[in-house]
Amino acid sequence: MEKKYFIQVYGCQMNLHEAEKLAGMLEKMGYQKTQEPESASLIIYVTCCIRENAEQKVYGHLGALKPYKMANREVIVAVGGCMTQQSGAAEKLHKTFPFVDIIFGTHNLCDFERLLKEKENRKKTLIEITEVNSERECIPMKRDSYPNAWVNIIYGCNNFCTYCIVPYVRGRERSRKIDDVVNEVKSLVNDGYKEITLLGQNVNSYGNDAKGQEGYGDFADLINAIGENVKGDYRLRFMSSHPKDLTERLVQAVANNKNCCHSIHLPLQSGSTKVLKEMNRKYSREDYEAKVELIRKYMPDCAITTDVMVGFPGETDEDYNQTMEVMEKVNFASAFMFVYSPREGTPAARRVDQIDGEISKQRIMKMVAEQNDRTARHSKTYEGKIVTLLCEDFDDKKQMYMGRDEYGRMGYFETTENKIGQFVTIKVTKTVGISIYGEMI
Ligand code: 5AD
Ligand code: SF4
Repeated sequence: MEKKYFIQVYGCQMNLHEAEKLAGMLEKMGYQKTQEPESASLIIYVTCCIRENAEQKVYGHLGALKPYKMANREVIVAVGGCMTQQSGAAEKLHKTFPFVDIIFGTHNLCDFERLLKEKENRKKTLIEITEVNSERECIPMKRDSYPNAWVNIIYGCNNFCTYCIVPYVRGRERSRKIDDVVNEVKSLVNDGYKEITLLGQNVNSYGNDAKGQEGYGDFADLINAIGENVKGDYRLRFMSSHPKDLTERLVQAVANNKNCCHSIHLPLQSGSTKVLKEMNRKYSREDYEAKVELIRKYMPDCAITTDVMVGFPGETDEDYNQTMEVMEKVNFASAFMFVYSPREGTPAARRVDQIDGEISKQRIMKMVAEQNDRTARHSKTYEGKIVTLLCEDFDDKKQMYMGRDEYGRMGYFETTENKIGQFVTIKVTKTVGISIYGEMI
């Protein structure tokens, strides 16, 4: 049987990037990528557990895979990522889906090659979940998102927001050395990548775990080092930024770096100081608003985007209204909005004052509607403007090329030439919902 792999990714950019590392490892072993699971000899699920529906999706898809695997026993099925790393989850997964051949945790990504080779000579399910907080870089990677590229700068999270499972499945913060990050960014830019996104659960705490150590610094030092050492026509982004760790020095570094997009993802979570305290976010509503002011002082044009949640235990109408007020006041360019989902093992899940699902539903619907209006209002301001897009893809449905501006706004334009990977200037002729349309100039 030809060695072909199919990877299904759930969840965030971190997982998408890990899939690129797995792909690199597999191609080195002689596997080829396929988009169709039916033609694969290896099917991998990279899972997410941030909210219950992410887990349910994986369970559903694995259930649906069972008859296929029973009829095609030579196909290897592997499950990795955050879901498997939760305490007891691997055993539960093995019990429910005994046909899964390999279960590996977030700390075992780089062990996958060895696990796969072992599996080829064994019948039993291999389960490898370690708690060790070390990351070895799996090189080469098979990047899948040209002209964009992700670069990890810090793994793990130390914050323990009371609703969040991430610190339990991704371990403590481990920063990479400044030179390692700079060299990776440099080689990506040399290879023609045009947009580099620095990734971390909280990029703003970059370097905290290695304070005073040779070869490290804080996030502002890292941005400055990239600015000094990587010249060229590319965009630099980062995510996510915890508001409590966003310093003036960092905002200055971003504003002074000509490659840095004026676009910051700054998760608010709630606009109520009481709820923020219970979330262990370590900032108040006023602190958050002051950080927004700070960003706008140095970059008045900066697009600020956010993550926000409704239905956290004990959230009253008043708490919710405060979140709505902050959203309006800050005028977020866009927002990811979630209904709180209790995660086993987290403090918030143990609270007795969980919010009724119907109330959360009403709250999220109103929030989404208001934010959609806000985002559309933002789009309207684009009419007639000249905008530079980085062309990312061709949209088959629209038969138009698609790109994003430095603020993350999606734009469409027509041309007969392949523009993917190029900066294209358009004049905006119309806006529809969150998207802009224009003509190349
Ligand atoms: N329920 C709902 N949303 C959550 N997030 C994290 N944990 C939960 C949870 N238990 C959201 C936060 C975070 C984003 C990545 O996911 O808003 O910023
Ligand atoms: Fe989760 Fe909070 Fe860490 Fe973000 S900062 S990953 S929300 S614990």
